Amino acid sequence: MDTTLEQPRKTRIAPTEIAPETFLIHDHQGEGTAPVVVALNTLVIRAAEPVVVDTGVAENREQYLADVFSLVEPEDVRWVFLSHDDVDHTGNVNALMDACPNATLVSNWFMVERMTASLAVPLTRQRWIDDGGTLNVGDRTLHALRPPIFDSPTTRGLFDPTTGCFWSSDSFATPMLAPVADVDAVEDGFWIDGMHMFHQYVSPWVTMVDDAKFQQTVDRVVALQPTVMAGCHTPAIRGDRVARALATTRTTPTAVVPPQPDQAVLEQIVQSLAVAA
Ligand SMILES: [Fe+2]
Ligand SMILES: [Fe+2]
Repeated sequence: MDTTLEQPRKTRIAPTEIAPETFLIHDHQGEGTAPVVVALNTLVIRAAEPVVVDTGVAENREQYLADVFSLVEPEDVRWVFLSHDDVDHTGNVNALMDACPNATLVSNWFMVERMTASLAVPLTRQRWIDDGGTLNVGDRTLHALRPPIFDSPTTRGLFDPTTGCFWSSDSFATPMLAPVADVDAVEDGFWIDGMHMFHQYVSPWVTMVDDAKFQQTVDRVVALQPTVMAGCHTPAIRGDRVARALATTRTTPTAVVPPQPDQAVLEQIVQSLAVAA
């Protein structure tokens, strides 16, 4: 088999300002190799004490660090907030903390426990903040809040009351047919169906929840009155799409979604790879 197949070209999206001094750093996977593209985004908030939110995947380290440091100097980064311990959110945490000598890692106890083998940041450089906690970053106080959909018990999103921006971690994830900077570029029905699907894939327990209690988790986000939302797996959500993302989350427990690809699909993929080679 030919092992020298060229990697498909990856579309580059430069960081976009989604709220004042708040920048979405774009990355994605699946382009040219999968039926849909999945965002792998992170955030930079240029507060008086600048904050980096999540750290991307290791495979994109060079571009990720270049994007972060195009927005803030390494020595000015004061906080690195991890929304949870999954590899698509923590892939560059050690490299980023190494490059930013004045940064404190905003984690929590269980995150450190679960990352024991991979996290190289000393406890003396950490601050532990859980759901409901706050972080003073000089000119504003950020609020940590667990979003309705999550796949790690360590998860907290992050809300900035001065801009109305809510970082949703894994919530509001959407497949894309091509990488885009804003969900406005995703066809409406595809977006709603895709969000239902990803929500159930990320959090299969959502089909088993007490609905009244689940709705309360959405109510908490609604109460923030966010004006823009973004997460690792969704580009910017603005305007009336904010309310629609929240409404779509409310109907996730009873949504009917396609099954995940199974062994039969894997065999088709392997066969097509063999033909291509
Ligand atoms: Fe996750
Ligand atoms: Fe994720």
